Amino acid sequence: MEIAVIGTGYVGLVTGGCLSELGNNVTCIDIDEDKVATLKQGISPIYEDGLTELLQKNIENGNLHFTTDYKTGLSDKSLVYIAVGTPQGEDGSADLTYINTACESIARDLANDVVIVTKSTVPVGTNEYIKDKIETNLEKNITVKIASNPEFLRQGSAVHDTFNADRIVIGSDDEEALQTLEKANADFNLPIVKTDLRSAEMIKYASNAFLATKISFINEMANLSEKIGANIDHVAKGMGMDARIGNAFLNAGIGYGGSCFPKDTRAIISIGKDAAYDMPILENVVESNDRQRGILVDKILERYETIKGKKVAVLGLAFKPNTDDMREAPSILVTEKLLVEGAIVNAYDPVASDNAKKILPEQINYTSSIEEAVEDADITIILTEWKEIKAFPLEHYKKHMTNAVIFDGRNCFELEGAAGSGVEYHSIGRPTVN
Ligand code: UGA
Repeated sequence: MEIAVIGTGYVGLVTGGCLSELGNNVTCIDIDEDKVATLKQGISPIYEDGLTELLQKNIENGNLHFTTDYKTGLSDKSLVYIAVGTPQGEDGSADLTYINTACESIARDLANDVVIVTKSTVPVGTNEYIKDKIETNLEKNITVKIASNPEFLRQGSAVHDTFNADRIVIGSDDEEALQTLEKANADFNLPIVKTDLRSAEMIKYASNAFLATKISFINEMANLSEKIGANIDHVAKGMGMDARIGNAFLNAGIGYGGSCFPKDTRAIISIGKDAAYDMPILENVVESNDRQRGILVDKILERYETIKGKKVAVLGLAFKPNTDDMREAPSILVTEKLLVEGAIVNAYDPVASDNAKKILPEQINYTSSIEEAVEDADITIILTEWKEIKAFPLEHYKKHMTNAVIFDGRNCFELEGAAGSGVEYHSIGRPTVN
């Protein structure tokens, strides 16, 4: 099929790359000239496993193109995906500025009938708005149909997730649009849920909000387990074996971050407000997550009278492993709090340091290895469960640190192993090992 994808953020780029891998002829449109120039050379601006290889292969075989020009990009396309960002507005609702610009450009430069497919996470009702916006601005006599195809991929495993998704959701109020989209997705060979436009939009928010709830729930169980002497690893295992609960997303930690859960939970609360419907569960999920981000520093301040002048090593800055994304990363609040308390902060992340430097307080010293970060430190804090961090043996902390005290916000180590390591090991929802 002839396909255009608007926006080359991680959703647009992965969508375009994967659709071209299926043999479609795909043109990705982005207004950022530098980005498009880099992409044309097959260089991905984001760190995503397998993406560079996918882009290079399909650029070389002529299936994948990049342009800043809407007219060229939209020419002869039957499907146009909108995958621009919908950041959080000041009041928590989704900011549709980029959607509006994309609609205006489509209306200006479209020359043939198309199905417009929204990939971006947008408030319920936005697809109807998009259709209306394009139709009222259209300069030619063209039929525009609209469909929603929300994205469920995770950063860091986006390519894998696209080819191995649990389901593909397609929603439209137009039967022909549904059929076109079904055809475009057929070669993924994955279960397809067909529904109406508004339900498709709602599935995306409801799924993210549910996953965020699951995380906040297990975090609260972890905090309570600690207080009453239970072990969250065992609690989560025992809960997760009940198929009705499921064992995924029951890893307790220092809270969820990233560009999706924080934004989408607040957005659905805002959608509720617009519909005059309170959502007390989700309001508390957000509050609980905000509290969770501060929990490690609270524990440290309970353990020490003061951390003024103490050397603290922070390991892992990205909001989760396998990404350099710092958006809503718990490391933001944690490093701010440490500095306010007067600590000297060394930080290490395998890939996110460059992005971290743009948003974390400037007093932080960045190191190029774990050893360097923990050398002579009084306290180590683990914030991201990178493979490299999990593989760094606890005994090595004893060797490098002045005082081997670790506060692990991601439960990277088994308690049994910690017991004989000579390290004072604090984690989330489990007894402290001395
Ligand atoms: C999330 C969803 O998982 C995707 O399905 C969805 O498509 C995406 O948002 C989106 O809306 O675009 P993502 O934000 O990339 O994906 O990352 P996740 O792997 O889901 O992790 C989100 C946060 O939850 C991370 O901070 C992670 O550390 C935390 N988390 C996850 C936990 O604290 N515990 C868990 O058990 C799982």
